[in-house]
Amino acid sequence: MLAYTYLSKGKFGLVEKPLPVIAEETDAIVRVTLASICTSDLHILHGFVPRAEVGVTVGHEAVGVVEKVGRAVKNVRPGDRVSVNVETFCGECFFCGRGSVNNCILPDGGWAMGCRIDGMQAEYVRVPHADTGLTVIPDGVSDTDAVLAGDILATGWWAAKIADIEEGSDVLVIGAGPTGICCALAAQLKSPKRVFICDIDDVRLDFVRKHYPSLIPLRSEETLAAMRSECAHGGADSVIEAAGTPETFRLAWQAARPAATVTVVAMYDEAQILPLPEMYGKNLIFKTGGVDGCDAADILACIAEGRLNTAPLITHTFPLSRAEEAYALFAAKRDGVMKVALDCTR
Ligand SMILES: NC(=O)c1ccc[n+]([C@@H]2O[C@H](COP(=O)([O-])OP(=O)(O)OC[C@H]3O[C@@H](n4cnc5c(N)ncnc54)[C@H](O)[C@@H]3O)[C@@H](O)[C@H]2O)c1
Ligand SMILES: [Zn+2]
Ligand SMILES: [Zn+2]
Repeated sequence: MLAYTYLSKGKFGLVEKPLPVIAEETDAIVRVTLASICTSDLHILHGFVPRAEVGVTVGHEAVGVVEKVGRAVKNVRPGDRVSVNVETFCGECFFCGRGSVNNCILPDGGWAMGCRIDGMQAEYVRVPHADTGLTVIPDGVSDTDAVLAGDILATGWWAAKIADIEEGSDVLVIGAGPTGICCALAAQLKSPKRVFICDIDDVRLDFVRKHYPSLIPLRSEETLAAMRSECAHGGADSVIEAAGTPETFRLAWQAARPAATVTVVAMYDEAQILPLPEMYGKNLIFKTGGVDGCDAADILACIAEGRLNTAPLITHTFPLSRAEEAYALFAAKRDGVMKVALDCTR
């Protein structure tokens, strides 16, 4: 089968690999129908993910059809259409018990697929711990509707869950990339008064205006003043930072009101500065980390009910055989690209 593979720092390529087999009783083999490319794949490509192993099939965001299951798998059966979670986890350890599945203590727990073990930009994938890793897609939800449920929409869901968003409050999301938009859409489900989303890129702000008119787009440079004048308490009640630059890290705490929660979703290329003397007395709560991708059932239910729609984010689709072109487009942010899907059946 074809598998898009991490060959060396700076180089991915399509490689012919043997079909995956059931290695543990808790595994499933999934025939991937649609996968997508994530910014984290680019981080691997550029060598920013030290845990990533050369030779691994990349991809950690996909949907497909269960082909085979190990004897211990109870929740899915061959023929089920499923969404694959970005993380593999046991569901039973101290961390899983608290929903911190990213910190699952298993050797292959946390973000393993597409990083340390073979991932999903391939025709088939072995999913360890299939009972917690796979979620059946409800009828009426298409592959395009569901493909982000395991990773970036899970990220938006997780961010909104930990961001202390109160009913009637003002939320600011920094960065109108696919992750920021997923955060904003998930935040809206918490019934805030308004969700603002800022960016420096007009193409991205126009995308928000066109597809998500209930969000309030702002240019980044006007955001601080807008939060101070528009919000009742001198700043946003909850800020979610999903851009990932020193400027946006600073904006995140500056645009927050006193005693607000700042949730840092973005991953940075370098350390950021928390100027504690400057922010002393603002009494902010910071939350950060990697997504805990364990809410796919709730996410897919919201999609089925029409309360979440990320299909517009899939702006481009390529066959797996043209993955290289797909990556080049995604990395260059050409043609208004948000997310690129790979049709792994072709
Ligand atoms: N915590 C997690 O588990 C998790 C999961 C997925 C993605 N991420 C991270 O989230 C971040 C966003 O991911 P993405 O795929 O949306 O990336 P992206 O690059 O497509 O989007 C980032 C957006 O931030 C905007 N931006 C840059 N400078 C800005 C500024 N000064 N003000 C406002 N906006 C600015 C860019 O124009 C872009 O639209 C990345 O750092 C990614 O690694 C984290
Ligand atoms: Zn990802
Ligand atoms: Zn666990």
